[in-house]
Amino acid sequence: MIISLTGFMGVGKSTIARLLGGSLCCKVIDIDRLIEKEQGKSVAEIFQNFGENYFRKLEEETLNRIIGDNNEKLLIISLGGGTLISQNNQKIVKENTYCIYLRASVNLLTERLAAHRGKRPALDSIDDNSLEQEVSDLLQKRLNGYENTAKLIIDVDEKSVRSILNEIISGLDSFNEAFSEV
Ligand code: S3P
Repeated sequence: MIISLTGFMGVGKSTIARLLGGSLCCKVIDIDRLIEKEQGKSVAEIFQNFGENYFRKLEEETLNRIIGDNNEKLLIISLGGGTLISQNNQKIVKENTYCIYLRASVNLLTERLAAHRGKRPALDSIDDNSLEQEVSDLLQKRLNGYENTAKLIIDVDEKSVRSILNEIISGLDSFNEAFSEV
């Protein structure tokens, strides 16, 4: 089984994936980190040097390879915030993984992203005053992709990491129970 985590930039996908991997004792792949390792460049450098379309091609190719080559019994993939823009990616993630959408309000996302400017090339050209509007617009465009692909949606506002993890684990338990009854 493959578990994938999706959601907007700054929602905490990488952190939750790492801690969930610790709880479930399984391998975790962070797609952005894998691309950076394989390309020997940061995501920001790839955007800067080759453009967003080039990054999206790498992302799609990497996602297909991770899923196609997987031989782990249980694997967690932390997707990028824009991975599910692509319909092909939505399809492969939906068909091959138990996708969890970490959902956060525009307020929370803006607060977190404002505190970490310079790390997200998709938002770097936006000035601080327009950040909230940009997050809202971009989220609106991506919402369907997240919601239609996910089998479990977790609202993260005002929740501790521990309670988010507990919700995920009980969601997985219910899924496994339903699955084993079939
Ligand atoms: C992106 C999100 C980033 C990374 C890239 C583009 C996006 O991942 O893939 O900077 O377009 O939302 P995180 O969501 O892990 O920040």
